[in-house]
Amino acid sequence: MSEPLVLGIETSCDETGVGIVRGHTLLADAVASSVDEHARFGGVVPEVASRAHLEAMVPTIERACETAGITLHDVDAVAVTNGPGLAGALLVGVAAAKALALGLGKPIYGVNHLASHVAVDQLEHGPLPEPCVAMLVSGGHSSLLRVTDVTGQDGGVDPMGQTIDDAAGEAFDKVARLLGLPFPGGPHIDRSAREGSTVAIDFPRGLTSRRDLERHRFDFSFSGLKTAVARWVEAKERAGEPVPVADVAASFQEAVCDVLVRKALDAASSEGIEDLLIGGGVAANSRLRHLAEERAEKLGIRVRVPRPGLCTDNGAMVAALGAEMVARGRTPSSLDLPADSSLPV
Ligand code: KG4
Ligand code: ZN
Repeated sequence: MSEPLVLGIETSCDETGVGIVRGHTLLADAVASSVDEHARFGGVVPEVASRAHLEAMVPTIERACETAGITLHDVDAVAVTNGPGLAGALLVGVAAAKALALGLGKPIYGVNHLASHVAVDQLEHGPLPEPCVAMLVSGGHSSLLRVTDVTGQDGGVDPMGQTIDDAAGEAFDKVARLLGLPFPGGPHIDRSAREGSTVAIDFPRGLTSRRDLERHRFDFSFSGLKTAVARWVEAKERAGEPVPVADVAASFQEAVCDVLVRKALDAASSEGIEDLLIGGGVAANSRLRHLAEERAEKLGIRVRVPRPGLCTDNGAMVAALGAEMVARGRTPSSLDLPADSSLPV
């Protein structure tokens, strides 16, 4: 018998994603983003995101089925992100998944958004290395997880640390705004930084002093860095001098990536774990990928980072984790599956 065909739905933030997988094989990854509608607000507006999901849901499901060359009746199981994320946005995806599961008479699997950012890697690089340390860096999260079972069974996804204030992607977006770059700012900073110097400005590395490391060894903090960049830019403007955008971008990006890589490798080393997986939108950052690979090699740690299209929110990651739940014989969710905006891993 061939492996089950799983359809995954993702609506935790501003991407309406529908992915279809068979085992570890990706058949379709349709994404509709409402990012342009949020751009003028400089951040995701929950109400706008929910409405956009409602409009995009059916066309995105249809597009995914067409790409995969299947009809909905071929689907063996439905997976859906049921948290964490924006409550109203999650509700749209969960309601759609329930309707599909009920209509098709197929099981539904509620999946955790963070764990699905980890699971997606198997679509590109094959079976997940377990145990591994996963660093998830996105607009909503910056977490270090110890993963022994990506389906979360028996505490298989164990949080080691997280941000105590802004998420890494949030810091990228806020600093981009200060520099007059469009939202979402991460890719623009990444691009601009290539023309600048990483050592032009010595921006602070959050939670890396000896005292902070005692309490926050694997935690992150980016709000102090963001404030430092704001002060630096304001001082330039007050002095009537031009702001060297590329240098600020490169130095800021270096401060973020340096801390992320340092702490992720420390987390892996401290657990004697030889595999580091990086996911989430910020994992698309070219400097982060380069630094992680360079430093990990010296420690004998392998790094896996999915291609950028799989790092940002999508439906394939949900289908990937759903497929893993089916393969590992996990119990499906019931049809009263709730959407939980602060669902823990
Ligand atoms: O995972 P994601 O698509 O959505 C959330 O769950 O937040 O991540 C979006 C975040 C945004 O903050 C965006 O600026 C950031 O990922 N991002 C990047 C890059 N591409 C996207 N940050 C830095 N460098 C990039 N190349
Ligand atoms: Zn995400």
